[in-house]
Amino acid sequence: MSNPILADDLVLKHGLLAGERILVTGGGTGIGKMIASGCAALGARVYICGRRQAVLEETASEINAAVSASSAPGGSVSPLQCDIRHEELIAAMLDAIWADGGALTGLVNNAAGNFISRTEDLSVKGFEAIANIVFKGTFMMTLNCGKRWLEEGVSASVVSITARNAMNGGPFTAPSAMAKAAVENMSQTLAVEWGNRGIRFNTVSPGPFPTEGAHARLLPGRSASSEAEVGKSEVNPMARTGKPTEMANLVAFLLAPGTQFVSGQSIAIDGAGFQSVAAPLWDQSKDWTDEQWRAMREGIRATDSKDKAAR
Ligand code: HXC
Repeated sequence: MSNPILADDLVLKHGLLAGERILVTGGGTGIGKMIASGCAALGARVYICGRRQAVLEETASEINAAVSASSAPGGSVSPLQCDIRHEELIAAMLDAIWADGGALTGLVNNAAGNFISRTEDLSVKGFEAIANIVFKGTFMMTLNCGKRWLEEGVSASVVSITARNAMNGGPFTAPSAMAKAAVENMSQTLAVEWGNRGIRFNTVSPGPFPTEGAHARLLPGRSASSEAEVGKSEVNPMARTGKPTEMANLVAFLLAPGTQFVSGQSIAIDGAGFQSVAAPLWDQSKDWTDEQWRAMREGIRATDSKDKAAR
């Protein structure tokens, strides 16, 4: 993401998230940064956490400067160092957030880890390096927030960033795909279990969004900054990558007051990429010319005529 997102870049109304207090895990870079930036532009008090304090501070300063320079009623971003694989660090961070102005009203479970590897080459530690962030870390973060919300009777929206490989498998990224599937399940489970107490859960599964963190580990050697290079090899009908503002619009919408009745949903933001991969004839037929379609139709009609003649 090159520049912070401004309120005028978004489709949502200015000040939509004023009064909201939102934590974005892994908010210093990539998709988390897009979401943090969009939420701050719409007026939220945003906290970003991650393992690298310097990166978090740089992101927060960048977004805060852009929000201050904008005429829209903006919020602010604060950086908090936290490795979500450790429950005591999560609890300490949430204590600090609650002490800084009260309960969170939104949690974005975005922090993740992933790398491409043949599954037979993985060590248990390698599996745990990912599962402890995506699976266990996401659960511990959600549980720690959830207990506080339930005790205080606070309403909140939880958006978890997953991936479509949670639905149909992720060859060469088994720990990530397995963990994302678990997060999808957690979201649906808790949407029901905590739904009568004002806490809602939705997931967003991104298609290709060019981010350095993911590309370095999943597409080594291909630059995330070259959107054209990444986009042309992506299989989706729009033949492009996602834009930061598109991600920010969707997640801010799910966090906003006014969409409280939306819960238990899983929404892809991938230009229908998942459907196109699942559609067996799409790749074969998408580039046919009018002449090829005409020849195809004539061939099918000839087969029909032959069959009819034999009836
Ligand atoms: C094989 C690896 C490995 C690799 C680490 N390990 N990298 N094994 N191939 N490329 C193994 C190590 O050998 C070690 O096991 C164990 O993992 C722990 O290694 P550490 O270096 O100590 O891990 P750690 O510093 O905790 O790093 C965590 C990480 C790293 C997940 C491995 O990639 C990371 O910090 N990533 C954060 C950012 C990120 O990944 N972003 C992309 C998210 S993309 P042994 O047995 O040797 O001791 C995403 C998209 C999902 O989520 C959808 C995709 C389609």
